[in-house]
Amino acid sequence: MAIKRIGILTAGGDAPGMNAAIRSSVRYAFYNKLEVMGIYRGFEGILNGEMALLNHGSVSNIINRGGTVLKTGRCEEFKTEEGQKRAFDILKQNKIDALITIGGDGTYRGAHALSSKFNFPCIGVPGTIDNDVCGTDFTIGSDTAINTALEAIDKIRDTASSLERIFVIEVMGRTSGYIALQVAIGCGAEEVLIPEQKFDIGAMCHDIVKGNLRGKISWIIVTAEGAAKAADIAKAITAETDLETREVVLGHVQRGGAPTSNDRILAARLGVAAVEALLKGESDKAVGVVCDNINLVGLEAAYQIRPIGLDKLYHLIKILT
Ligand code: F6P
Repeated sequence: MAIKRIGILTAGGDAPGMNAAIRSSVRYAFYNKLEVMGIYRGFEGILNGEMALLNHGSVSNIINRGGTVLKTGRCEEFKTEEGQKRAFDILKQNKIDALITIGGDGTYRGAHALSSKFNFPCIGVPGTIDNDVCGTDFTIGSDTAINTALEAIDKIRDTASSLERIFVIEVMGRTSGYIALQVAIGCGAEEVLIPEQKFDIGAMCHDIVKGNLRGKISWIIVTAEGAAKAADIAKAITAETDLETREVVLGHVQRGGAPTSNDRILAARLGVAAVEALLKGESDKAVGVVCDNINLVGLEAAYQIRPIGLDKLYHLIKILT
């Protein structure tokens, strides 16, 4: 059946560049004479019938904006068989022939359920700051989040070195240490704690004391929220070394702000690729960019745990300190 109307939604945590991806899919769909139904608040928006046909102007002036104009959310009902069947029926009632879902692993799971259980054409677009889905080198939003964190840590470094203090900085990543590792390398951190790697707080304190004896007084330690809380690490360091330690939780500031050029360009490419995939009859797949080429991968494979390449970066932290 030829596709006439596609639906588009964003789900899960928002990521800078989602708007640029929405714009790209919508404009490329219009270029191909398709209609686009914007669905609000993720999968919940399907269940609540919160949707409206978009026009050219609906996506004007959003390329530079963080967040998502379609809003986003996580939906418990959609995780059930009944919820998924109801969503399928509502999509059909609204004459939606195919769906583009922008988000991370949870969003991919939802799209996979619709495609695999109801044979409903779905294509996933990777939009998450965590860069933790497979089938793409980068997800939309991670470059911006890393740069936001780096900008903040550069400022912290100024005060850390002036007052000769130890700082423990917590970045996002409940299950993935990707942001923490990239940020730690980028800001020249002395230590990084990530969920993928066991760490030894005793050994860290020993290094700090050793460094302190040779005159190294300020330290930047980056921790992923899923590895350890900054407050706990700071407390442990002070207890063990008697050195003044401060903690900073960067939190949701990492999810906002104007997307970087990398994220906008990635979003432009992937938004187009998603529409193109649907027009070619693809379904149950996610688009990505691998070695600068557009890549298609099954949604189920795409939401598996993605290794963060410890061998490439992790050991550099100690060497470069
Ligand atoms: O979107 C991914 C992410 O930002 C993770 O890095 C983080 O652990 C989680 O979302 C936080 O989610 P919430 O905003 O619901 O607390």
